[in-house]
Amino acid sequence: MDLFAPPSLSGMIGIVTGGGQGIGRAITRALAGLGMTVAVLGRDQGRLDAELAGLAQEREAAGETGGKMVGIQADVTDKAAVTSALQEVMARFGRLDLLVNNAGLTPWDDVPVASTDPAEFQAIMDTNVWGLFLVTRLAMPYLTQHGGGQIINILSGGAHVSGGGDGAYCASKYAALALTEAMAAEQMGTGVRVHAVSPGPVDTRIWDPAHCAKPPSAADRAKMLKPEDVARAVVFCLAQPAGVYIPEVQIRPWS
Ligand SMILES: NC(=O)c1ccc[n+]([C@@H]2O[C@H](COP(=O)([O-])OP(=O)(O)OC[C@H]3O[C@@H](n4cnc5c(N)ncnc54)[C@H](OP(=O)(O)O)[C@@H]3O)[C@@H](O)[C@H]2O)c1
Repeated sequence: MDLFAPPSLSGMIGIVTGGGQGIGRAITRALAGLGMTVAVLGRDQGRLDAELAGLAQEREAAGETGGKMVGIQADVTDKAAVTSALQEVMARFGRLDLLVNNAGLTPWDDVPVASTDPAEFQAIMDTNVWGLFLVTRLAMPYLTQHGGGQIINILSGGAHVSGGGDGAYCASKYAALALTEAMAAEQMGTGVRVHAVSPGPVDTRIWDPAHCAKPPSAADRAKMLKPEDVARAVVFCLAQPAGVYIPEVQIRPWS
């Protein structure tokens, strides 16, 4: 008995928001490797095309086969752009089985709430909460067309606890967890399975000096989770039988 065989996603169509780099890139690669056709949403078509061309080369060099990846420009906060991206997915591929809400702003700038820039607070909430809601809301009719698909929201350890200096980010992830739980309850039993995958620190560009006020050392970065660890958790949710529901996978570095 093979308890943890990876699922075959051949013939299925998925969307990964922000899937051109970081955690989203690893998820895109894993899903494509299992046969899924993956539409990757990002804000800049040229950047997306370059990111996916690089990923395709990496997959080819590693001998990976499977589904194709296409980049579709859409800012997740822009209703018209998301509507058009979803229409393009349906026109090109005819169905939607999976939505991974991964796009997010993760500023690790260690600023107290009392001195947080209101514009930054707004941008974080717009992307991490409004964007997640919007893509989900507009994708739902397509996801349910074939009797039910899956939604996986990439949240954070910050959806459960704030240590200070991260109030805006944690507020956005708490809110996204509440949306995840509400949708899961609403869809329970008949509709779309809605999961949260909530990682601790993952070694992506957000920890580079350009994006982070107090960049961790190389040694500390080496102890973080890898984007592939999050991709494995996503696949774990997809590998469950139809009658099994995983509400949330929490992952932390073990170091
Ligand atoms: N890295 C960590 O330690 C960590 C830990 C826990 C949770 N997370 C969460 O995991 C997710 C991915 O994080 P990451 O570390 O991989 O970040 P990242 O490398 O900065 O990637 C974020 C992706 O989101 C896209 N994006 C941002 N705003 C967007 C928008 N408005 N519309 C469409 N796409 C947008 C970016 O694409 P463009 O900029 O090219 O448009 C980029 O591809 C985020 O939700 C983050 O909060 C990260």
